[in-house]
Amino acid sequence: MNLREIFTPDEIAKRIQGLGREVSIFYGREKVLGVCVLKGAFVFFADLVRCLDIDMEMDFVRLSSYGDGTASSGEVSVECDLVSDVRDKNVLVVEDIVDTGLSLYYFSRMLRSRGARSVRICALIDKHERRTLPVNVDFCGFRVQKGYLVGYGLDMAQKYRNLPGIYTIDPYEIEAADV
Ligand code: IMP
Repeated sequence: MNLREIFTPDEIAKRIQGLGREVSIFYGREKVLGVCVLKGAFVFFADLVRCLDIDMEMDFVRLSSYGDGTASSGEVSVECDLVSDVRDKNVLVVEDIVDTGLSLYYFSRMLRSRGARSVRICALIDKHERRTLPVNVDFCGFRVQKGYLVGYGLDMAQKYRNLPGIYTIDPYEIEAADV
């Protein structure tokens, strides 16, 4: 498969330091429950939380809207639920990519219905032009217009998650703009 690097490990690390500052300033002394959306966000989450200077707990959830391909099936299910009670908590959902918005539209509603005090989204990549549902990314690493990305936790059919940079797979073309 022909991979083309669009964000180097160094660029990613610098952007995450900036995100860490934004998130830390935003929450200040508030307690936060950071939720890592598995599997894709595991690398980003691990790097982000080490840049956060806040009082936080962590939990993990696994949602599924995609099979092993590159197109959404249009349905979201919770494959592995949170252990924590989110009632009255400030929840920071940490996601790899927000694409159509389907997964996080569903998950944010679920968190609110369980009584979360606030729900914010931190995504490494926002493909905002592909949005079909109203999901706002509160803290965004990079904006990307199109293309299918792999590496740094992102997969295609469960492959490439271990690559240290982020790559697009040809023949998709990508147009990226720094936030
Ligand atoms: P959404 O529900 O359409 O917003 O899709 C979000 C999920 O789709 C992300 O958490 C990723 O797991 C997956 N996804 C969307 N675009 C990509 C991509 O370019 N590469 C890898 N996974 C992607």
